[in-house]
Amino acid sequence: MDNNKRKELKVSAIRNGTVIDHIPSDKAFQVIKILNLENSSNQIYFGNSLESKKFGKKGIIKISDKYFKDEEINKIALVAPSATLIEITDYEVTKKENVHLPDYVEKIVKCFNPKCVTNIQGITTKFNVVQDHKGTMKLACHYCEKTMGKESIEFL
Ligand code: CTP
Ligand code: ZN
Repeated sequence: MDNNKRKELKVSAIRNGTVIDHIPSDKAFQVIKILNLENSSNQIYFGNSLESKKFGKKGIIKISDKYFKDEEINKIALVAPSATLIEITDYEVTKKENVHLPDYVEKIVKCFNPKCVTNIQGITTKFNVVQDHKGTMKLACHYCEKTMGKESIEFL
């Protein structure tokens, strides 16, 4: 095929639902996993390593007829703080907001300390979202007070 005639295919528009845009490319599959989209029967469009002026390379996920709860949005914010959440109603953008890290997260993350009471007694987890001296996001367990970095986060 003549290269000049090649047109890039964009990820299709959706009628109703949510678009998660501006996901770092190396986080896009993890976002799919933490939202449990593998098990969703909703119509889903996914693009990754797409060109983005602002971003270099990005991932985008479009889920028809789905609107995320705060708990799910917090998960997205922990994995992809740069993401934009867009709600679509009848093909129009009706809401657009950057996800933002909450002050604390409950239930959604497991404590990495095997001796933590939350692991031993199955208590609901609770973490404060803090920053270390370098400004890196960490989660401080409310119960055992251990602090874990992004790389140790395991979602429940
Ligand atoms: N979108 C969609 N279906 C629609 C309308 C919009 O999937 N019916 C998607 C677009 O593909 C885009 C996002 O929602 O990824 C935001 O739409 P819009 O604000 O129109 O796009 P841009 O102005 O390009 O957004 P930005 O500059 O913030 O990336
Ligand atoms: Zn703990």
